[in-house]
Amino acid sequence: MTVSKNTIFEQFLAPFVNTFLIDQEAIERFHRSIDWEKQSDRLTNPTLIYPEYYSSQNFHGINGGYLNVTAAVTYDPITQYALPPNETWVRQAVIDTVRTEPSRIIDIGCGTGSMTMILKQSFPQAEVIGVDLSPYMLTCAEAKAKTAGLDIQWRHGNAEKIEFADASFDLVTAALLFHETPPEISRKILQESFRLLTTGGQIIILDGNQKTLRQTEWLTEIFEEPYLKSYALGNMDAWLGAAKFGAVETQNIWWVHQVSSAIKPLSDQEPDDQKLRQNLPFLNNNSDHSDNSFPAPAY
Ligand SMILES: C[S@@+](CC[C@H](N)C(=O)[O-])C[C@H]1O[C@@H](n2cnc3c(N)ncnc32)[C@H](O)[C@@H]1O
Repeated sequence: MTVSKNTIFEQFLAPFVNTFLIDQEAIERFHRSIDWEKQSDRLTNPTLIYPEYYSSQNFHGINGGYLNVTAAVTYDPITQYALPPNETWVRQAVIDTVRTEPSRIIDIGCGTGSMTMILKQSFPQAEVIGVDLSPYMLTCAEAKAKTAGLDIQWRHGNAEKIEFADASFDLVTAALLFHETPPEISRKILQESFRLLTTGGQIIILDGNQKTLRQTEWLTEIFEEPYLKSYALGNMDAWLGAAKFGAVETQNIWWVHQVSSAIKPLSDQEPDDQKLRQNLPFLNNNSDHSDNSFPAPAY
């Protein structure tokens, strides 16, 4: 496994981070504690075809992106420093945004399961499912959840087309996924999330703050993130509106993150929906962004 050396992180920060901030021995111990081939093979969906945007790119300076063990074992130790001021505090913003007690949650692009586990801990009665394209990230997630005694299902799948029926979930979450997908893929994933949600169901997205990223170009150069610039130029509120979500809201979290929330609104056609709409006004699609236009950022 090779690591590319041409990003700001790899040239200037990696030596410092690796020497002083990362517990290399702990990574080694974790690496050795898992039979990666056996466990990732077990979690692999043999029918899954990796999308080109994913398998052809390096992410975070690691050649081969997420489809290898190195990406999985180094992800958590690095990510804690990528979510200032504090990873737990930033992730808690997702939980604080949940409107109602969910009974079925899907966390898409779940990676090593850090967000998925917080969801399960916060809503212990809910059935929680984590979906990711990398069997190595899922292997890591499964091991962590097992250690923590959390009952979570892990699925190897593509968030563009997930093997669950329409209206299967009342909460869809995506943490740190959309800065890693090209905008046209992000739109597809949002449409798929809409399909998976029940009427009145909520989607919550934690990711980099698009406005800040637009204003501070150097931030988009730190790590090897092939789609970060196009993510920064986009607008999550507009993407959610275009996917027909309502009650679209984005809040800044600290300075570098944002949490977006939206609701699958009632359809105008269903008579039952019309009654519900009168009683629960927040279910109405009150987004101004229901077309593909590019409105001003919400913050
Ligand atoms: C930056 S990580 C975020 C992981 C986790 N959600 C977190 O909060 O730490 C992005 C993850 O998205 C996954 N991913 C990217 N595109 C995906 C797709 N189309 N379907 C499912 N997972 C995807 C990657 O494999 C990776 O694990």
